[in-house]
Order: sequence, then C-alpha cells, then structure tokens
Amino acid sequence: MGDRLPIAADPANASHLPVLLAPTLDGLAVRPGAWVIDCTIGGGGHTEALLSRSAPDGRVLGIDADPAAIRRVSLRLADAIAARRLVLFHGDFARVEEAADVHAFAPVDGVLLDLGVSSFQLQTSERGFSFLHSGPLDMRFDPTQSLCAADIVNDWDERDLADVILRYGEEPQGRRIARYLVQHRPFATTAELADAIEKAVGGRRGSRLHPATRTFQALRIVVNGELTQLEAVLPQALRLLKPGGRLAVISFHSLEDRIVKQWMQDEARTYVHDPTRLHGGYDRQPTLRILTKKPIVADEAEVSRNPRSRSAKLRIAEKLPTI
Ligand SMILES: C[S@@+](CC[C@H](N)C(=O)[O-])C[C@H]1O[C@@H](n2cnc3c(N)ncnc32)[C@H](O)[C@@H]1O
Repeated sequence: MGDRLPIAADPANASHLPVLLAPTLDGLAVRPGAWVIDCTIGGGGHTEALLSRSAPDGRVLGIDADPAAIRRVSLRLADAIAARRLVLFHGDFARVEEAADVHAFAPVDGVLLDLGVSSFQLQTSERGFSFLHSGPLDMRFDPTQSLCAADIVNDWDERDLADVILRYGEEPQGRRIARYLVQHRPFATTAELADAIEKAVGGRRGSRLHPATRTFQALRIVVNGELTQLEAVLPQALRLLKPGGRLAVISFHSLEDRIVKQWMQDEARTYVHDPTRLHGGYDRQPTLRILTKKPIVADEAEVSRNPRSRSAKLRIAEKLPTI
C-alpha cells in the first residue's frame, strides 16, 4: 500500500544520504560523457551525483529489484529520463547483462554496486526489514517474488533455520535462537520476532547491537539470495566495462566484503600454465587492477551524519586492457 501513495505522502520518502559518495565518484573517475551502470539505484542518491559529474551528456542505467525504488527515482529524476540521460530497469542485478542489452548500454565506463537495504526500505514498516518499525515478516527487495521471511521463520525445520542464522548472520547463538523460535512460532511481525530472539539469548547483556540484528541480517540474505546475486553480478560487470573502466562496490557486512575482495584478488592475479600439473595451471592475464588495497571506510563526520555508513566498505578496481 506504501507503494501506491503519492510520493510526497510516502512514509519511505525520508531523505536518503548516499554512503561514501565522494570516494565513490572519485574512484569511478566519472568524466563528462561517461556511461555508468548503477546496479542498486535505491533512492537515486548516487545516480543523481553520477548524472551531475557526467554532464552534459553522460548516461546512467539504473537497476533495482524493488519496484518502489524504480517508481520513486522515475519521479525524482524525471528530467534526466526525459533528456534520455537515465534509463531504468526493474529486476535483480544478476541480470545486469540482460538490462544492458535491453537498453543497448555497453560498453560502460563504470559500474556501481551499493549493496543491501535502503533507508527507504528500512523505514517503511510494511516491508518488514526492521524491528524498530514493526511490520510483517517480509524482507523481500522485490515483493513479486514468493519467498519471504515468514516462510523461513515459521516453516523451515530447526536445523535449517539454525544453519541460516549461524552461516549468514555469523550469530554464535544460532542453534539456541532456532530452538527457541521453533518452540514459540508462528510469528507475524518483526517486533514479535525480535522480542523472541532477545528472550532466546537471555536479554541484551549490555551489547550495542540488538540481539536480533544478526538473525535479521541472515533472514534478509536468504530471502533475497544476496550472496548468490553478488557472485553472479561481478563477472558480468567486468564483461560490461571498457578497458580502463572502473567497478565500485560498497558492502555492509563481512560476508559480502569477502566475496568482493576475493573475486577482485582472483581477477588481479596472473595464472601461469604449469605443464607438470595434471589438470593444472593455465595461462590467464590479470583482468583487473585493484585500486583500494584496503577498503575505504566512512570518516567520523560521515558516520555521525549517517549512521548507516558505519559498516560500509568501498572497494574499487579498474579493468585492464586485454593483450
Ligand atoms: C543501499 S540501497 C542503494 C542506495 C542508492 N545507492 C542511493 O544512493 O540511493 C540498495 C538498493 O539495492 C537494491 N538491491 C539489493 N539487492 C539487489 C539485487 N540483487 N538486485 C537489484 N537490486 C538490489 C535494494 O532494493 C535497494 O534499493
């Protein structure tokens, strides 16, 4: 129902501050006339800045799995759409090559991924991402998909639920939480679930993190297939880039960051054929140059302005020319 409200009355239309904006734009080295794919258009914050840096004739292809994000940006950046400088694609970013094909948008100078959940989604209680704004146990980026958080919490068996919480939430108390949830389900809202998790672990114990934080992260990752999506988009982004084009990825937890870091390191490595190994080595020149040895993180001023930036890590790499 939030999706259908006029934009000014939309509770999710609170301001959205793009994370690590300046280092992202610098890292992507956006110049006038650049073509950039923003795989996670969200509230359009990064895209608006990309359009401005690439003016007067640069172009952005903006993708989002969330139809509400696409709708909001199509209103907010209507002038850029009318000027044919912005085109939008509703779908998973694992379909980025298809999106580029549909819009004849390749090769490109830059690809941006700003992963995870937007502040609009977090603040819209009906989307069920947050226990601070209680809502149904949903957590889908794309409400047209069928699996939602309630299916996992209320229907999956205890062992599978525990595995999810341990693996994708990196929550050491995953087994205990799963046992408690299975004994006390069904749950209808995010607040009920958060309350049950707090009881399962015996209260807050003075930690800064709410005891439900990691379990909520785990559920969201599974509902949206977030790690699979990330593994699928990285090689496609590389294929879409021109030699010298840049890829920027902002991640918000260690599971995502590890995938990005390892993939970049792998693409930056030279493989040499080793005839002494039976199924062994093969020749491959590096395809990427890593521009961020360590990830870029937000400074104190940004964290105090925008607490969401606290856990953000930005990695940038440049596509090398093929020989
Ligand atoms: C952190 S927000 C992006 C915010 C945006 N950079 C801005 O400045 O407003 C992440 C967005 O990515 C979208 N998203 C997450 N995973 C996705 C996926 N696999 N495919 C497409 N969109 C995805 C979410 O729906 C959300 O709108």
